[in-house]
Amino acid sequence: MDAVTAEALLDQLAQAAGPEADWQLATYDKLPLNLVRGQGARVQDADGRWYWDLYGGHCVALIGHSHPTWVAMLHAQAQRLGFYSNVVNSSLRAAACKAIVDFAPKNLSRVFLSNSGAEANEVALKLARHHTGRPNIVAMQGGFHGRTLGALAVTASEKYRKYALPEYGNTRFVPFGEPVKLDDSVAAVILEPIQSLAGVATAERGWLHGLRAECDRVGALLIFDEVQTAWGRMGANFAADFYGVRVDLLTSAKGTAGGFPVGATLVDDTIARRAKSGDQGSTFGAGPMACAAILATHHVLREEGLVAHAAAFGQHARKVLPVKVRGEGALLGLCLDRPVKPVLATLRERGFVAGGSDDPNVMRLMPPLCTPLSVLDELAEVLREILRA
Ligand SMILES: Cc1ncc(COP(=O)(O)O)c(C=O)c1O
Repeated sequence: MDAVTAEALLDQLAQAAGPEADWQLATYDKLPLNLVRGQGARVQDADGRWYWDLYGGHCVALIGHSHPTWVAMLHAQAQRLGFYSNVVNSSLRAAACKAIVDFAPKNLSRVFLSNSGAEANEVALKLARHHTGRPNIVAMQGGFHGRTLGALAVTASEKYRKYALPEYGNTRFVPFGEPVKLDDSVAAVILEPIQSLAGVATAERGWLHGLRAECDRVGALLIFDEVQTAWGRMGANFAADFYGVRVDLLTSAKGTAGGFPVGATLVDDTIARRAKSGDQGSTFGAGPMACAAILATHHVLREEGLVAHAAAFGQHARKVLPVKVRGEGALLGLCLDRPVKPVLATLRERGFVAGGSDDPNVMRLMPPLCTPLSVLDELAEVLREILRA
């Protein structure tokens, strides 16, 4: 089948299915958009309207939508070998893992690849417990780490916990940004260095360094959940680099493979050296398509200087936007003097897709790192109009 016929078949099947509510379990609160195409920092709906995607496909479209390099490399790999699991060796997997490790802080010498952020966190928590032989985890109020039971167990918000009632068991929640006292029952502290869903809440650099020192005092590990902050989004390779904090385990997903589902758990060399066969596993993790997508994403990140562009994006936002801006680089919270929901609806009418957060007055921007700075000027103008009205 050629590409044109394949596209036509996809359209025909999509049209024949009718509304997704007839088929998909109703667990999502959806934006009133049916998006069918993406190109760089923009997305197009089924009526042909283009929008600037300041939501970045949920903080995923790191290098932009359907980047030609990403498309070509996935296409090439799909034609060659669509899938084989970790039961065999793969030089492509070696290259993808190397690309990740090369991008990471020096002490993180190995990576375990899975399929989502929740899984990446589960792996980190298991590694921490196994390595220290300790049961307890300290997590932050306001943090979000995913929907699987282990990830939910370290997510404080009742909004997410109440559905599945995960055991609090071994987790102690402490206030984000306030001094933390640990004891030698603690395997690890897990936190988002910037709490995105909580409304892009940031902590002092000094507090993060203090937390590292407290972990060292009792022999606990420090886990950064960089599902959102990784791969240059903050204008530095990772939040760990941005804040200059050494971490023992670093987790990511979202932009790792530019839209192909990949979770990554990066592991400190001391912990990595103790790993042995059978400790962790994932059928789909690190499959050939995922590895091709990781390699394509990293190639574009480097070639197009997107990390530096993300830093410039954050600086420009602070200069031109008519509201208080939280966060760094291309992970920003705009603090409004009113609920963001109606503002987001008006922005969509004006051609911008942006996101909300668990703070009703904070709008989130987490666009592709290639988003032109001029989009912020346009957004500033429209926001000024909306906020004046
Ligand atoms: C900081 C953080 N950690 C973990 C997750 C869970 O990732 P996933 O939905 O890929 O399981 C998310 C998802 O939004 C997240 O923002």
